[in-house]
Amino acid sequence: MFGNLKHLNKYFRRYKTKLLLGVLFILLSNLANVYIPLNVREGVDTIEQTGDYSTVVNLAAVLLAAAFLSNLFRFFIRQTIIVVSREIEYDLRHDFWSHIQQLPLRFFQNNSTGNIMSHATNDIASVRMFVGPSVMYSIDNGIKFVLTLAVMISLSPMLTLYSLLPMPLMSLVVYIVMKKMHTKYTRIQEKMSDLTAKAQENFSGIRVIKSYEREEYEISEYKKESGEYLNRKMDQVKLQAFFAPIFMMIAGLSAIIVVLAGGNMIINKELSTGVIFAFMLFLMDLIWPMISFGWVANMIQQADASMKRLLKIWSEPVDISNNNVDDLITSITGDIEFRNVSFRYAENLPWVLKGLNLSIKQGETVAFIGSTGVGKTSLINLIPRLYDTTEGSVLIDGVDVRNIPLKVLRTAIGLVPQENFLFSDTLANNIMYGLEKRSEELVHKVSGIARLSKDVNSFPLAYETILGERGITLSGGQKQRSTLARALAIDPKILILDDSFSAVDTNTEEEILRQLKEFMKNRTSIIISHRISTVKDSDKIFVIEDGKIVEKGTHEELVAKDGVYADLNTKQLLEKELSEMN
Ligand code: TTP
Ligand code: MG
Repeated sequence: MFGNLKHLNKYFRRYKTKLLLGVLFILLSNLANVYIPLNVREGVDTIEQTGDYSTVVNLAAVLLAAAFLSNLFRFFIRQTIIVVSREIEYDLRHDFWSHIQQLPLRFFQNNSTGNIMSHATNDIASVRMFVGPSVMYSIDNGIKFVLTLAVMISLSPMLTLYSLLPMPLMSLVVYIVMKKMHTKYTRIQEKMSDLTAKAQENFSGIRVIKSYEREEYEISEYKKESGEYLNRKMDQVKLQAFFAPIFMMIAGLSAIIVVLAGGNMIINKELSTGVIFAFMLFLMDLIWPMISFGWVANMIQQADASMKRLLKIWSEPVDISNNNVDDLITSITGDIEFRNVSFRYAENLPWVLKGLNLSIKQGETVAFIGSTGVGKTSLINLIPRLYDTTEGSVLIDGVDVRNIPLKVLRTAIGLVPQENFLFSDTLANNIMYGLEKRSEELVHKVSGIARLSKDVNSFPLAYETILGERGITLSGGQKQRSTLARALAIDPKILILDDSFSAVDTNTEEEILRQLKEFMKNRTSIIISHRISTVKDSDKIFVIEDGKIVEKGTHEELVAKDGVYADLNTKQLLEKELSEMN
């Protein structure tokens, strides 16, 4: 039933010593504890038989000592087992995070951020509850049960038997409730993750929500979701609410049986009065384990459901892997070749690239042009292996990219993505993001090339200005130039600009391109754009249509060809003339 949790064994093994110590403390604490009722029995019997009060005082002192020791060991139990549970939680979180970081882009497209966040927080927390409290109480309860029962039997096997008569009833209740609980927990966790996902998406899209006046709608949507969460939680709480009262009643039943049967045995002189006192105390000792049994069972159910969800992500293959790489490759020069490359995002989705062939020589500047949605971004994503080809192969320096160590490959490629992203950190740190070693000088240099310097000087703290959530928001064009600077900073062998000038004006673009010329010398550069003005100086221009290359050549050659490119050229020239006339 709890098969998912066995995956935690390796973590338990890591903290074996501390855990064993914890178990020892549990044993000691219970040993001291079980001594208390025995002591009381002796006290009662002594008073009854001898009337000697001084013995009682002595016994009281021993009782105090036993109680003190029992609780001292209880302190040590928490110091060992609960501490270990926190350590395991840390390890789990770390391992989970490492795995998440290595998952391919594809994974993040198929799973919502909120869902992943819910796994990283709620699910790991609930597994922690298993590792800590559940394990602690299970062992504690187990030992307490065995020990208490053993002592009870040694005092009076018959009375023990009587007091345990209601036990089968309890087992039945536990069985029924546990069976129902599991599905309830899974449903609760699922809803929790929906809630997190919804919240996360709302925060990211807050601008859209506000500009379309959809606050009320979002409030009611969230209310619906959290109402559903409440319902599911209530479902479980109602069931859980049965546990404590039922156990109390069963314990009460036991107490009554002890008084009735025990009383009779005393009258028949089969038992001393003290034993009844001791039995009452034992039963009281057993109430908590019985109640907590239900609680622990719940935690285990929950942890199992959570672990199952975590394992689902854990079993996601890191399909862009380093498995087949040739470790002898430590650098690349920058020849790129696409050999019969076909690509689609999933089997049920249409082909984006269809048997595409092209080659780019080291040091060349090439451009891809084509209307929106033809697959330009998809194409360049294959070079740093953000995705792998579905068919065919991408080669760099004649080697299949799947054979080049990921680190070598990716640190040699400076990609300025179409949808740029900056971290909520200082501008300098953002620009140096890809670097192992900080270099302020480099930041200034690449910012110069990206035409960012002038803007930076107007920021309150220049390069130390914090961007994003905690600081200033850059304009679209400033963002693009910052991400360009970040790509330049890693001194890439291959530079890829995916529509990186769409948000800057044509003049700035020309300036940047002019400055980049020097930088791009001896590097392979790929420029994607819709604008002829951006691509016209490239060594080679590829026109893409319907997942294939339909034309290639220099600007002049393509214009002379009178095809798609020439058409586009005429159109854009016309537009330019028109706008200049106005
Ligand atoms: P893109 O490769 O993004 O097209 P593009 O870069 O040429 O377009 P644009 O000029 O607007 O930037 O997309 C090609 C097709 O692939 C498109 O139909 C959408 C689809 N696609 C996915 O299914 N998943 C993805 O992650 C991406 C990027 C695209
Ligand atoms: Mg694109």
